Amino acid sequence: MSPPVRDGFTSTFGVLLATLGSAVGLGNIWKFPSLTGMNGGAGFLLVYLLATLLVGLPVMIVETMLGRAARADAISTFEQVAPRGQGGWQVIGWMGALSALLIMAFYSEVAGWVYAYVVKAMTGEIATTDPKAAGAAFGALVSDPVASLLWQWVVLGVTGGIIMLGVSKGIEAVTRRLMPLLFVLLLVLCARSLTLPGAAGPGLAFLFSPDLAKITPAVVLTALGLAFFKLSIGMGTMLTYGSYFRADQNIPATATRVMFADLSVSLLAGIAIFPAVFAFGFEPAAGPSLVFMTIPAVFASMPGGTAFMTIFFLLTAIASVGAILSLLEVPVAILSERFGCGRKRASLYTILAIAFFGMPAALSQSLTAGINVFGMNAFDLYDFLSSDVMLPLGGILICLFVGWVYGLPRLQEQLGNHGSLQNDGLVRGVFFLVRYLTPLLIAVVLLHGLKVF
Ligand code: PFF
Repeated sequence: MSPPVRDGFTSTFGVLLATLGSAVGLGNIWKFPSLTGMNGGAGFLLVYLLATLLVGLPVMIVETMLGRAARADAISTFEQVAPRGQGGWQVIGWMGALSALLIMAFYSEVAGWVYAYVVKAMTGEIATTDPKAAGAAFGALVSDPVASLLWQWVVLGVTGGIIMLGVSKGIEAVTRRLMPLLFVLLLVLCARSLTLPGAAGPGLAFLFSPDLAKITPAVVLTALGLAFFKLSIGMGTMLTYGSYFRADQNIPATATRVMFADLSVSLLAGIAIFPAVFAFGFEPAAGPSLVFMTIPAVFASMPGGTAFMTIFFLLTAIASVGAILSLLEVPVAILSERFGCGRKRASLYTILAIAFFGMPAALSQSLTAGINVFGMNAFDLYDFLSSDVMLPLGGILICLFVGWVYGLPRLQEQLGNHGSLQNDGLVRGVFFLVRYLTPLLIAVVLLHGLKVF
């Protein structure tokens, strides 16, 4: 009897959109604009661009490459590719599964607020031009324990249902449909924002004329951390997705396209948001609340506000779906393949685990507000532990594994054999980066996250 055929992506375009679906998410529309706003605009953008190229892209290429070489879940991958007797590298997969759960525990809550805001935007409930009133509306949502939990569970129900369908019929089928829609909606919003009277000048200058004096070491480190989160690297997501890549998929080209497309979405989100923020005299440095407090007030101030506000939150909800599917796939693949528990049960266990660990995050501004660890509530702690500790650590380990254990000849074979890179110089360039420069740069992010300096 032949072994069962492993599920995977079925077309080159499907691979591209699913991978892009993982990268594009709340990171582009929630994290990127707020961090750009808080860190001085164009200077931050410039550093983020460099971080994406020097750290993000090489890690994404080698992580995906390892996944396809092994064609296994994130833990079992290292059984396939590490030399005999070096089982310790599996820790990367275990850490990845834990990171996925931690990220999902707070990410699903933010996605829940976004879903709630789609409804609130449609019904006109948040149509106020006063940022204080908008802030109060957001406060009412996050401090309501029942609403917080229910919206988180809606998100888990929707995405859990999709993930149960599998890689080709679930992830690929859904991201193929949603990603083009996301681009269209984003372009509509940009057109609206740029045609507001007095919008284009200051908003675009904020985004595109860097003031180099604003680039401090802290700005550099924040940008590097964002590059990690944005490209979904360092935690086994790209290992897992790489394992579903077609054998003839050109990995460096796919990773480069995903990186540029993801960057375009962030820039378009910036172009949709900042000109409008400036046109109506709001504060660009509002922080994480920018999307939930400032943006509704901005939209309510413009003609056609209700429609555009609804489009904005719908777009954000759509963006979150592909990213969440990729986060779920890491533990689902481990449970179903390594522990053989069947895809439906693996999906169910994963969703239940996230609902359980997510509860303190969902309730962190209501019932569990008084419970702090290291001075952080559960929401901030999950974000800190995953983004600032585990992703950079996972990234360093993946680089060190490829640079010092896996080696150049196998990298050349993996990337060259598939016609991926005609130019051996490029493979050598990637190898040099992951062996030396990239882990060093990531180490700086990690030490900053741990407040060592
Ligand atoms: N890249 C996603 C975003 O920017 O929203 C978040 C994310 C997805 C992080 C998957 C990590 C991951 F594995």
